[in-house]
Amino acid sequence: MLEIEADLVKRVDGIRIHTPEDFEGMRKAGRVAASCLDMLVPEVKPGVTTGHLDDLIREFVLDNGAASATIGYRGYRHASCISHNHVVCHGIPGDRVLKEGDIANIDVTVVVDGWHGDTSRMYGVGEVKRRASRLMDLTYQAMMAGIEAVKPGARVGDIGAAITELAHKNRLSVVEDFCGHGLGQVFHDEPNVVHSARAGTGAELRPGMFFTIEPMLNLGKKDTYILNDGWTAVTRDKSLSAQFEHSIAVTEDGYEIFTTSPAGLHTPHTA
Ligand code: MF3
Ligand code: CO
Ligand code: CO
Repeated sequence: MLEIEADLVKRVDGIRIHTPEDFEGMRKAGRVAASCLDMLVPEVKPGVTTGHLDDLIREFVLDNGAASATIGYRGYRHASCISHNHVVCHGIPGDRVLKEGDIANIDVTVVVDGWHGDTSRMYGVGEVKRRASRLMDLTYQAMMAGIEAVKPGARVGDIGAAITELAHKNRLSVVEDFCGHGLGQVFHDEPNVVHSARAGTGAELRPGMFFTIEPMLNLGKKDTYILNDGWTAVTRDKSLSAQFEHSIAVTEDGYEIFTTSPAGLHTPHTA
């Protein structure tokens, strides 16, 4: 009996409450994922294929004592998702050649000692048009506004409310078809972090909860559809889309970001 009780994992509203040792595991995993995105900054340039970038990611992950969480996940075969221009998320790396003026989100999830680090950033390819760099900047700001809403006693809906307020003020739409998610020893867990939500709704946040915040903002309408490959999500109106993602924890007095860039390269950048 006692042994079984010691093994019980604490959940509140179906959301796992983690221990201080669990935070250590997440810091390691988050650091590897964020360093991987740092490594890519000089590599994302006109003429490179998304498949080559995925090869670099796969190597980096293995060289750093981690495993890719996406290889083998529901039949997915790549170490990253690379989503350019009107691709909202889950773009499959391959023969596509990135060209001057493109923008691309690169999303990497690694597992270190059983813990998941999930993060993505936007990359500009060479010189990028003003409206594209504005979209990237505002999407970063929207993610950070969502993160700043995180503290014990706040509600999951407060995150989406902060994101939506910033987006709508700037005449951008917020994608509703994909959400942030709890993570830890599980890749996709409770809670569902909706990026377009009303303040005061959803589960109450408690110290020890881990989840991602990963808003997708569009220049046009919010609507998306999935291509025949079963993965690639695109905007229905072909408008540009951007996304940033951090893995975070609720702490006693606010939040901790696990996937901060060790090289200070988190904000949107062009190589
Ligand atoms: N990293 C994505 C997320 O933020 C999930 C990618 S799953 C894959 O949740 F199979 F498409 F790679
Ligand atoms: Co995620
Ligand atoms: Co991700």
